[in-house]
Amino acid sequence: QKHLAEGLSLSNKKVLITAGPTHEAIDPVRFLGNRSSGTMGFELAKRAADLGAQVFLISGPTSLSVSHYGIELIRVTTAEEMYNAVHKYYSEVEVAISAAAVADYRPKSISEQKIKKKGEGLQIDLVRTKDILLSMGEQKKNQYLVGFALETENEEANAKNKLQRKNLDAIVLNSLQDKGAGFGGTTNKITFIDKNSKVKAFELKTKSEVAADIWSEIITRIHG
Ligand code: CTP
Ligand code: CA
Repeated sequence: QKHLAEGLSLSNKKVLITAGPTHEAIDPVRFLGNRSSGTMGFELAKRAADLGAQVFLISGPTSLSVSHYGIELIRVTTAEEMYNAVHKYYSEVEVAISAAAVADYRPKSISEQKIKKKGEGLQIDLVRTKDILLSMGEQKKNQYLVGFALETENEEANAKNKLQRKNLDAIVLNSLQDKGAGFGGTTNKITFIDKNSKVKAFELKTKSEVAADIWSEIITRIHG
C-alpha cells in the first residue's frame, strides 16, 4: 500500500516546466511569435502541484494565470530570457518538461524606432535562438528530462531523433493528425515515447487529461 501511495506522488520532488510561446522583438511594437496558448504547460504544472511537487513554471507571454501554493510562475518574453530562467532552476529539479514553443529564430537586431513602411517589400535578417532543451540535455545530471515534438511528417521517426539528439529521457509527440489536436485548442492527441523506444499512443483528450497521462508515464519511470 505504501508503494502504491508513493508511486502516485511527486511529494518532495522539484519540477521545472516551460510553457507558452516566446516573442522575439522586431521593433518597439512588433515581434515574431507563434500561436501557442501555454495551456499544455500550465496543465502539466497544475497536475504536478496536485501530486505534491514544488513547481517552477517558466512561461512565455500568455493570457493564462495560475494560483496554486505549489507553483512558482516565472514570466519571460524571449527565448534568451527563458534560457536564463531555466538555468537558474534546472540543477535543483528532479524532473524537467519542455512544453514551450520556443522561437527557432529571432531578428538579428531590434530596430530602435518603429520600422516605417517604404517600398514594396521588406527583409528582416534572422539568427538562431539558443536551443534551451538541447542545453538541458547537455547539462543533465540526474534529472528526468522530457521534451515535446510537433511534427507534420515522419512523426515518430523525427520525434525519436529529437529524443536522442537532445539527450532526453522521453518525448511527447503532439499529433496534428486529428482535428482539435495541438496548438490553441483545449484538446490534444499525444504519443509518449521513452528512451528505450517504448511507444504509447493516447486517444484525443482534454489537455488536463493529457497532463495526467503524461505524469503517470513519467512517475512510473522515475519510481521504477
Ligand atoms: N526547444 C527549446 N528551445 C528551442 C527550440 C525548441 O527548448 N530554441 C524545445 C521545445 O520546447 C520542445 C523541443 O525542443 O520541447 C522540440 O521542439 P521542436 O520545435 O519540435 O523541435 P526543434 O528542435 O526546434 O526542431 P524543428 O523545429 O526544426 O523541428
Ligand atoms: Ca522548433
